[in-house]
Amino acid sequence: MKGSQVTIKNVEKYFGDFHVIKNVSLEINKGEFYSLLGPSGCGKTTLLRIIAGFEEPTAGAALLDGRDMIPIAANRRPVNTVFQTYALFPHMTVFENVAFPLRLKKTPNGVIRDKVQRFLELVKLPNEGKKLPAQLSGGQKQRVAIARALINEPSVLLLDEPLSALDAKLRQHMLIELDSIHDAIGITFIYVTHDQQEALSVSDRVAVMNEGEIVQVGTPFEIYESPSTPFVAHFIGETNYFGGKVTEILEENRARVEIPDVGPIIVDRDKPMSVGDSVKVTIRPEKIRISTERHKALDDRFNQLEGEVDELIYSGFQSKFFVKVNDRVVFRVFKQHVRFFTDEKAINWKDKVYIWWHDNDSFIVEVEEP
Ligand SMILES: Nc1ncnc2c1ncn2[C@@H]1O[C@H](COP(=O)(O)OP(=O)(O)O)[C@@H](O)[C@H]1O
Ligand SMILES: [Mg+2]
Repeated sequence: MKGSQVTIKNVEKYFGDFHVIKNVSLEINKGEFYSLLGPSGCGKTTLLRIIAGFEEPTAGAALLDGRDMIPIAANRRPVNTVFQTYALFPHMTVFENVAFPLRLKKTPNGVIRDKVQRFLELVKLPNEGKKLPAQLSGGQKQRVAIARALINEPSVLLLDEPLSALDAKLRQHMLIELDSIHDAIGITFIYVTHDQQEALSVSDRVAVMNEGEIVQVGTPFEIYESPSTPFVAHFIGETNYFGGKVTEILEENRARVEIPDVGPIIVDRDKPMSVGDSVKVTIRPEKIRISTERHKALDDRFNQLEGEVDELIYSGFQSKFFVKVNDRVVFRVFKQHVRFFTDEKAINWKDKVYIWWHDNDSFIVEVEEP
């Protein structure tokens, strides 16, 4: 089995007057685990259905290894889909469900027996062939659906929120299994989800979608660490987000930004900007340190502010602090509970605290000239 390269070129889709897909272009590499991530209703399923051949684009092209797919019927494309609902045949055994696409092709029985067994092993259900779908758990049913989608050896597997019907713990487990299935067969996976944790944890690359447009494509690290727009910063994880004005351009790609009711902070400057520009700054809560003591040994690359704990949420492995600066502006700070050898004081509600972070961790997601 071998993966295909998938190219989406300037695809547009209208349902009546409704513009659902807006000039989308993507290049998905052979064998890549590629995710389409975006909120419900942003057009992910529609885009997947265009690749699968269930939907025709209003304009644009979808190519597989450079070959135009649009004139080719869905069942003739080397592409298969796993849906959120397992869509298994309830009256057929697990074995017959997986064998179904081969029976349609009139594959000889001996070949079917070996191949179905091989794919049941791949999805870790080697002994469940005789059961009916109703006798399986949700996770097992989804594995049968995956085996059935793979049995015809497609070069691209499309997965449309395949885990969303499972509970959180099983979802984690199935994600790891999906990843190892992907490693084992090496074909291209296009994985649709609205869950950023899912997309970040298994993908080679992620395309973030909003209202029919691709807003950023990157590795999970790039998407999380350097979101290119305010939408991406908000959609991918929790973040702090402030408006401000550039007051000074500093060396080493830094700038000083005045945040109303906070004061000046130093931020990373990875976009062109000038003094006087309005900017939006974001800082991830886990990048900020918190203590009841002022840090006296920080160099000039750090920002340090004083505030008060306005709210405190204990969640086992970490606590979330909402720290109010100047009685006005709230900073979210996440603190992992690691106290093996330090004797740091516990931080309580209403405590006066100091928060600090490296300037690299505060960066600009939007610049507006005056
Ligand atoms: N066949 C259709 N006719 C009209 N509107 C549709 C059709 N399919 C989807 N839509 C609309 O297009 C938008 C995008 O839908 P969809 O691609 O399913 O989004 P997602 O998978 O990201 O949740 C939604 O507003 C949806 O209601
Ligand atoms: Mg959908």
